[in-house]
Amino acid sequence: MKLIEPILTNHDLTHANTLGLPCRAERFAAPAGMTVLRRLLQQACAQDWRLTLLGGGSNLILPTRLEGLVIQPALSHWWLERQGDNVRVHVGAGVEWHPLVLALAHRGLWGTENLALIPGRCGAAPIQNIGAYGVELCEVLEAVHVLFLDDGRLATLTPAECAFGYRDSIFKSELAGRVVITGLTLRLTRQARPRLDYGDLSARVGPRPSALDVAEAVCAIRREKLPDPVQLGNAGSFFKNPIVARDVADRLLARWPDMPHFTLDTGRVKLAAGWLIDRCGLKGWCDGHFGVHERQALVLVHFGGGDADELLAFAERVAQCVQSRFGVALELEPRRA
Ligand code: EPU
Repeated sequence: MKLIEPILTNHDLTHANTLGLPCRAERFAAPAGMTVLRRLLQQACAQDWRLTLLGGGSNLILPTRLEGLVIQPALSHWWLERQGDNVRVHVGAGVEWHPLVLALAHRGLWGTENLALIPGRCGAAPIQNIGAYGVELCEVLEAVHVLFLDDGRLATLTPAECAFGYRDSIFKSELAGRVVITGLTLRLTRQARPRLDYGDLSARVGPRPSALDVAEAVCAIRREKLPDPVQLGNAGSFFKNPIVARDVADRLLARWPDMPHFTLDTGRVKLAAGWLIDRCGLKGWCDGHFGVHERQALVLVHFGGGDADELLAFAERVAQCVQSRFGVALELEPRRA
């Protein structure tokens, strides 16, 4: 079969992942339309190429070489469908998340403003159910549009079918490696509904903030704490906040009464991984080409020159410190390609 699309070979992905890890893809394509996407998938199947899907590369640990075909869907349309005060936003997988959030907030639409400045593309957002400042994507999501790899079938999944949880969804389990996310439908509203209960967000905005005011306040807080991947390689939170049984939390609280914790509906307790790492004295700790960020211990940073293996070994040492001091296991948040 001859190559039907611009498939680049030995393509450098170092700048396509926010950690800045060196990686070369044996083959790479960025289809801008569904027809081309389908044809690439058929070709990968016919040639038995290993397939890797790439979004904005902001939550991914890339190895130094990816065999087979890497596809980065570039479906970058979005449009609004008005229904009174409610507005549906239809958005392609290749749209960058943060510019979309700003564009929606500019239009006075409420729902995504707390999720401002999260890096990455819309197609990756449901995989880990992105969340920040008290809001998760699943709360504003009406549907996820997917293409099944085995038979090329298109399907629309409801939020319930996506089985969303904290940084979790069906795309990490049952549907992992089985679908391409091609787009999302979001449901926003013109009615003001600020969500300001997380941290000091309410202190950052006036009494009747607009959606844009809230988005800008979130951006300001994030810029104070989180490193800009353009300047310093990182993948945001590198560990999930661990969820432990009540008795484990009680035991820890007896010893560390100031430990931040949040009781979930299930009765289990979410702890702050950043606090645990910080209390191990690791904030700002560096070794080799990697470090624990000096302002937010949950973020690991790459100074350049390192690779995925070194990063994973570094992360393992951080997790081991937390394990031996608090008896709590940390799980990686970014996914390995
Ligand atoms: N803390 C420390 N030291 C640190 C970091 C945090 O003591 O170095 C303490 C804080 O003082 C606070 C608690 O830990 O009491 C929680 O910290 P924070 O409110 O900053 O939130 P987080 O749990 O560290 C989570 C998300 C972030 C999201 C923020 C805000 C996860 C894994 N991370 O971080 O998401 O922006 O809440 O909602 O759930 C991301 O996923 O990449 C990300 C940045």
